[in-house]
Amino acid sequence: MSERTLVLLKPDAVRRGLVGELIGRYETKGLSIIAMDLRTIDGELADRHYAEHVERDFYPPLRAFVTSGPMLAMVLEGDAAIDVVRTLNGATDGRKAAPGSIRGDLSLSNRENLVHGSDSADSAKREIALWFPDL
Ligand code: CMP
Repeated sequence: MSERTLVLLKPDAVRRGLVGELIGRYETKGLSIIAMDLRTIDGELADRHYAEHVERDFYPPLRAFVTSGPMLAMVLEGDAAIDVVRTLNGATDGRKAAPGSIRGDLSLSNRENLVHGSDSADSAKREIALWFPDL
């Protein structure tokens, strides 16, 4: 079933010059780009995006990180797009993510893990509305 999902290329991806490589991984898999925006977000959007994490110990440094520079936000579409993106992204912790995944190949961090992908159909709907309200 065709789905849409929100993908963020985080500030570490933009700083490291990996935007082209990362977009290429999603495109060569067969996903379509429906919307795209390079944006430096404020703490308020970070808190809304990560609402389920705001009370966690790791949240303050995560908030500082995701507001530290531009992120490339995208809506991707395709068959089973939510799970496909999560598989391409790999496990959250780049030190443990499988080789072949984006984080497994390119990240050595639990926080600076290059990418975000919606984790469920409900999250995708909520996150797409938050980032791209005109879609
Ligand atoms: P993401 O998929 O965007 O969802 C939540 C983010 O929080 C996650 O990627 C990481 O960037 C970050 N994160 C999750 N767990 C930890 C942790 N234990 N320590 C630091 N950062 C974390």
